[in-house]
Amino acid sequence: MASIPNYVFTRDYIDNNRINLQHHQWTELFGYLLHPQIPTTNTNLRVADVGTGTGAWLTSLGANLPSTAQLDGLDVSLQATPPAEWLPGNIRFRRWDIRETVPEDLVEAYDVVHIRLLSFVLHNEEIPHILQNVTKLIKPGGYLQWAEADVASFRIEKTNPNNSTEALTRLLSLSQGQDTRLNPKWVPQLAELFSSSGGLCNVQADVRDAPNHLALAMHECNLLVHELLARTTKIESYAKELEDLMPRVAAETREGACWAFTRWTVVGMKPLVP
Ligand SMILES: C[S@@+](CC[C@H](N)C(=O)[O-])C[C@H]1O[C@@H](n2cnc3c(N)ncnc32)[C@H](O)[C@@H]1O
Repeated sequence: MASIPNYVFTRDYIDNNRINLQHHQWTELFGYLLHPQIPTTNTNLRVADVGTGTGAWLTSLGANLPSTAQLDGLDVSLQATPPAEWLPGNIRFRRWDIRETVPEDLVEAYDVVHIRLLSFVLHNEEIPHILQNVTKLIKPGGYLQWAEADVASFRIEKTNPNNSTEALTRLLSLSQGQDTRLNPKWVPQLAELFSSSGGLCNVQADVRDAPNHLALAMHECNLLVHELLARTTKIESYAKELEDLMPRVAAETREGACWAFTRWTVVGMKPLVP
């Protein structure tokens, strides 16, 4: 199997467009930015978004909270975040690698920690340690919300059982073959891991399948992933097969077939007493 860079996406304007569109699609699917179990009445709420990307979730949330709330986006790279001059005064970004020790000033600093779409970043065996690490950011009585797509729930939806799906099926095995991070297994275990590894309580999982029209839009947004992957891996044979495959994938899609995945939002509270 080919070895590919630390981060599988390009952090350029195409990738940023993908992330921003995806943000709105996820918000439409779940109907909230913060799960209703999470209280937001504290006017001095402190929120961290880990692996913030373009900061789309954070800036949307900020628009729904009083300006006295403090919102911090943490990411190993700030290449995709807006310039500080164009952000509301209560939103800031800071470099932090989720695998590294939590800086002292961030220990138990947040009422809410949010994570979304890190499944192509993390390896299956890392999740318990990552959970232990991110829970250190949360105040006792604060919450963790983590949202991911379960890639293992992959299926193809069709408008007609006779629709061809050969190219769509091949695309999955072709791209997943490039790196084990593209085949995460841990998403359905996340709720259990919140309790066992994260020590969180009141854990709830909100598990959703998109209605077909939204599944199609999410699928078309995700199609960009493969071309971005070809650019980061620089594996010639992969890029070459994609060149032939993508027009056929697009044609099968337009004829009424698309990839579909089950998506999860898991929330849990850090106990007041450890
Ligand atoms: C697919 S994007 C998701 C962006 C955002 N969470 C969202 O849902 O819109 C993944 C993000 O994780 C960040 N990332 C990758 N490795 C990381 C690490 N070790 N620690 C923190 N962030 C990381 C990337 O820089 C990128 O911004």
